[in-house]
Amino acid sequence: MQEKEYSFQYRMHTGTGLLSEADVLLVKLATETTARAYAPYSRFHVGVAILSVDGKVAAGSNQENGAFPVGQCAERVALYNFTSQYGREALSTIAIAVDNPLQEEPASPCGACRQLLMEYRKHQTDAIRLLLCVKGRNTIIEIPDVAYLLPLAFDGSFLGI
Ligand code: THU
Repeated sequence: MQEKEYSFQYRMHTGTGLLSEADVLLVKLATETTARAYAPYSRFHVGVAILSVDGKVAAGSNQENGAFPVGQCAERVALYNFTSQYGREALSTIAIAVDNPLQEEPASPCGACRQLLMEYRKHQTDAIRLLLCVKGRNTIIEIPDVAYLLPLAFDGSFLGI
């Protein structure tokens, strides 16, 4: 028997001072996109902005429904929006912003969205970075690779097809 351990490093920024210009723009776009969330049930407005390695950008926000399971997270809307516009491309950075008065710290993607993010990640060699923030607050969490968020992930290769 072997004991295994898993840990990863990430950064907590106070303000955008140490971020690149491209990162600041992506965080701004994600934050602006929270305004187009449709979240009358949760009032938890999420905006996501995606930057590809080639410099293409797409955004998305969460879209809720009176029949709750029909609603969709912002990450999934943004990823499908990106792919629908540009096809599958290597992704560089994804900014995720929340606008909710009760939310003080950035929120990280739900488990289902992590699974979807891994579907993109497994088709590229380089990391997909995440920048997590809350509208009107200073903390920005920088996660160097989405893969860190889903260790021992299931993927299509398990299906053997
Ligand atoms: N939500 C997202 O858009 N992304 C996440 O990663 C977590 C949750 C949305 C879904 C729902 O509309 C609202 O936030 C509350 O769960």
